[in-house]
Amino acid sequence: MSRIAYVNGRYLSFRDAKVHVEDRGYQFGDGVYEVCEVRGGRLINARRHLARLDRSLGELRIRAPMSTKALGVVLREVVARNRIGYGVVYLQVTRGVARRDHAFPAPEVKPSLVVTARALNRARNEALAANGIAVISMPDNRWGRVDIKTIGLLPNVLARQAAIEQGARDAWFVDRDGAVTEGASANAWIVTPAGKVVTRPADRAILRGITRTVLFEAVKAQGLAIEERAFTLEEAYGAREAFVTAATQIVLPVVRIDGRLIGNGKPGPVATALRRAFHDFAEAG
Ligand code: PDD
Repeated sequence: MSRIAYVNGRYLSFRDAKVHVEDRGYQFGDGVYEVCEVRGGRLINARRHLARLDRSLGELRIRAPMSTKALGVVLREVVARNRIGYGVVYLQVTRGVARRDHAFPAPEVKPSLVVTARALNRARNEALAANGIAVISMPDNRWGRVDIKTIGLLPNVLARQAAIEQGARDAWFVDRDGAVTEGASANAWIVTPAGKVVTRPADRAILRGITRTVLFEAVKAQGLAIEERAFTLEEAYGAREAFVTAATQIVLPVVRIDGRLIGNGKPGPVATALRRAFHDFAEAG
C-alpha cells in the first residue's frame, strides 16, 4: 500500500507529496510541528498536542492553517488512509511559500500544512523499553526558545547523531550550570535514591512535553512524590533510575549515562510501572 500524505488541502501518494522549494520551512526552518501517538488506530492526547501547536504558532506569529477541529479531522483522515494501528502522526505548519527574504512575507501568504503518518514496530519498542537505553550528555547549544516546537532542529539532529556514533541511543543536553535540560527529542527524568521523581520545570529551557504533562497524573496516582526542579548531571549519575518521555516512546528507561550504569543498570520499577500506567491517564480520540 502506498503511503498517503496531506499536503496543502490534498491527500496525495508519497510520490506526489511535495512542497515548493521556496517554502519558508525549507529555506529558514520557519515553521512548527507536532508528533502525536497513534494506538489502536486512535490519536493519543490530540487535544493537548493541538493546543500546544496553537501556542507555537502564536509565539511565531504564524497563522493557523485551519481550525483546530478541522486539523483534528485531517489528522484522523491521514491515520485512517494509511491504516495506522500503532504509530505516529506528524503535522507541520510553515509560514508558507514566498520569495526568499528573512523578514515575514508582506503581504502575508498562506501557511503550508503537511501531515504524514507511519506505523511503528510495537515489538521493537517494547524490547527497547525492556532493555533500557544508553544516553550521552552534551552542552545545550540550542537557541533560547526551545519551549516552541519549531522544525529548526539542527542541534538535536547533531546530538542524536553523536549519540549513535558513541553507541548510545539519545543525548541529554546540559545547561551552563551543569543541569540537565532535556533529551534531543524527549524530556528527561530521574528517580532519586530517596524515591522522588524529578523532572525540570517547563520554563523556556525545555519543551513542555505532552507525555510529561500527562505522566504527572500517573506519578501522583502511584503515590510517588514529584519534584519539578532542575537536576545536575552528577545527580543523574547517582540516581536510582532515569528515563525519558515523548509521544513516540512514552516512557523509556535510561540505564546508562555517559557510560555509567544507572541503578543496577536495568530498567527500574518506577519507570516500568509508569510506562504501563500511562495510557490510563491519556486521552484517546
Ligand atoms: N519530540 N523535548 C523535545 C526536544 C522533543 O523534541 C520532544 C518530542 C519532547 C517530548 O514531547 P512530547 O511528550 O509532547 O512528545 C521533549 C518529538 C516526538 C519528535 O521530535 O519526534
